[in-house]
Amino acid sequence: MGIFALPRLVVYGTEALDLMIEEAKMFGERVFIVSDRVIEKLGFLERVKRAFEDAGFLVEFTVEVEEEPSFSNVESIARRASQFKPDIIVAIGGGSVIDAAKGVWVRLENPGYDLYGISPLERIGVGKKVRLIAIPTTSGTGSEATFGIVLSEKVDGKRKYALGSYEIVPWMAVLHPEFPSSMPRSLTIGTGLDALAHALEALVSSTASDFTDALAVKSAEIIFSELPRVVEEPKNLDLRGRIHMAAMMAGMAFSNSGLGLAHAIAHTLGPMLGVHHGAIVASILPYVVKFNSERSEGAAGKYRLLERVLNAVLGQEMGLLERIVDLYQTLGHPLDLESYGCSLGWIQDNRDEIVAGVFSDPDLGFNPVLPSEEDVLEVLNRAVEGRI
Ligand SMILES: [Fe+2]
Repeated sequence: MGIFALPRLVVYGTEALDLMIEEAKMFGERVFIVSDRVIEKLGFLERVKRAFEDAGFLVEFTVEVEEEPSFSNVESIARRASQFKPDIIVAIGGGSVIDAAKGVWVRLENPGYDLYGISPLERIGVGKKVRLIAIPTTSGTGSEATFGIVLSEKVDGKRKYALGSYEIVPWMAVLHPEFPSSMPRSLTIGTGLDALAHALEALVSSTASDFTDALAVKSAEIIFSELPRVVEEPKNLDLRGRIHMAAMMAGMAFSNSGLGLAHAIAHTLGPMLGVHHGAIVASILPYVVKFNSERSEGAAGKYRLLERVLNAVLGQEMGLLERIVDLYQTLGHPLDLESYGCSLGWIQDNRDEIVAGVFSDPDLGFNPVLPSEEDVLEVLNRAVEGRI
């Protein structure tokens, strides 16, 4: 028993904007574009705006999305959007922009709804008046395909978060390979390895299904095969297109199956160490794969399945962990937490905060085996020392 939710339409390739316009015409003529200043500077916002204007749409836009959007950021954008009364919201940017647009979508459809209350258990009622189109410019978060929404803000000294709802999966995802081709090398690696972590955590999640397994395995295969190549050839649109698709497939998988321990640790350690989410989740991933394969028969079986697929497709006999290490070494990505200034002493000193963060993270519940506090600390100690 379960629910499997995906965007209604995915348009992809170098003609993706034309395909988007053709589909959008069926739903009205007023478009509100949600973006940020980085995307504006890159000229992507203008390109999307022009595509709609040339087709006769009435367009308004904002570049006010913050790096990590808060509830009040979303509310202020939503106030402007509601005056304009759009038929379609278009998000162009990374995960933060798409998440902010999901919040604006909820607010436009259901003005009385409490954004703090977004959860899979609450009915919102979106999709009646307004459609959401998501155009990702990075290949990693998968937000264009997911029901998740990351908004946070301190209220009365406590941090509040929004989680997600199947209703806020974007109506359309637009995968144009030219947008991610502007990412610098470090972001290509960080976001690509984040997508790999999504695929590998979705694969062994406690609520994985045959639907999500298929997406997770194919996504991992593409990332292992193409990520080193796209880092060397950043303007190769065929390679960019494949990685862009793989990142979305990993998003489709984890949106429907959940993530796991690597993300629970990364959500906690990333902000404490000031390290990009993709980089930290990637560095913790091999140790979580090892822990899961030692402690869960089901996870070990799934990893072996992926191993067989990778060996057959990539034509080189390797264990999964060995393949992850090989990929990181090729990309020059750290395999230990010491590279981020994280020592055994630091883990010990911050033990209580780390444990509290990991055990309150909603992703932990999807890990195939629930770790004890000691298990989490052992995984972290191994990760600091690079003991795979
Ligand atoms: Fe992630």
